Amino acid sequence: MLPKYLTAIAVAISAAVALSPDTARANCDSGETTIKLSHVVAASGHPKGDAATAFAAAVNSELNGRICVEVYPNSTLYDDDKVLEAMLLGDVQMAAPSLSKMEKYTKRFRIFDLPFLFRDAESVYEFQDSAAGAELARSVEDKGLLMLGYWPNGMKQMSANKPLVSPEDASGLKFRIQSSEVLQAQFEALDASPQKLAFKEVYGALQTGVVDGQENTYSNIYTKKFFEVQDGLTESNHGILTYGVVTSTEFWNSLSAQDRGDLERILARVTSESRASAKASNLSAKENIISSGGTVRTLTAAQRNAWVNAMRPVWDQFSDDIGSDLIESASSFSN
Ligand code: LMR
Repeated sequence: MLPKYLTAIAVAISAAVALSPDTARANCDSGETTIKLSHVVAASGHPKGDAATAFAAAVNSELNGRICVEVYPNSTLYDDDKVLEAMLLGDVQMAAPSLSKMEKYTKRFRIFDLPFLFRDAESVYEFQDSAAGAELARSVEDKGLLMLGYWPNGMKQMSANKPLVSPEDASGLKFRIQSSEVLQAQFEALDASPQKLAFKEVYGALQTGVVDGQENTYSNIYTKKFFEVQDGLTESNHGILTYGVVTSTEFWNSLSAQDRGDLERILARVTSESRASAKASNLSAKENIISSGGTVRTLTAAQRNAWVNAMRPVWDQFSDDIGSDLIESASSFSN
């Protein structure tokens, strides 16, 4: 048995490790500008977790001595509903929340939650790279936030504590959603009951039956083990999950032009690498779910069409908030 003082040291070390940022961080030196990057997903094996880790590793080696990035994954610092407020207060300098969580800054971001708008991840990238996508990214600047870019995840799938094959199967069930009015309307259109919950609460809520189901990407469902407490998943590909890489204008303007340029250059490289690997990351999460005993159901074209018909009317509810020109522009990439 360890002497008491050694046990106390061990406890103190493990508490410090639990609170410390991801190991991709460098030990920031006092002369360096520190960027705390907070996110809610796994630190690796996930498109956003891997992008954040790669961004930190690149900055910490290429800009060593000037800028240092500390990554806080798994909601260890903030959850997405709090992180942008913390950023405006200067407590965190970068985050990559799901665009579903940006609606309190501009309702136009609701476009990313419209069900069955984007055919696949590539059509999302084309829209984000278009003039309309760039203009949309700039629409939060008057709120003191700067969207430096978009990071990818992938298509969302449904899961529940019973098989979901037709839209009627979802009727009466409680589904966890992100804090998004569009996602709320989407589940109401299925006659289901949407419940807004922070990402870190989803596993517990599914396990204890606070909610019956949820929607998310394969990478989130696998890395957070949601599939273990669900009957199965339905490969609906009904929506997309994508992120905004956000900083505050105040922090950004405090950097030198050279620092801003170097960070933008590294971010662009990491973003394009992340786009190149996000699909494979979700595919491997899907395979891992199946090999771990999870069930993934696929839909016939007719079955999927029934989901489209049930959920597509949601667009009309939000076309004024988003702008029908923007919806048209986004849908043109999926034709
Ligand atoms: C969620 O809340 O389901 C997602 O936004 C989590 C994430 O960041 O992928």
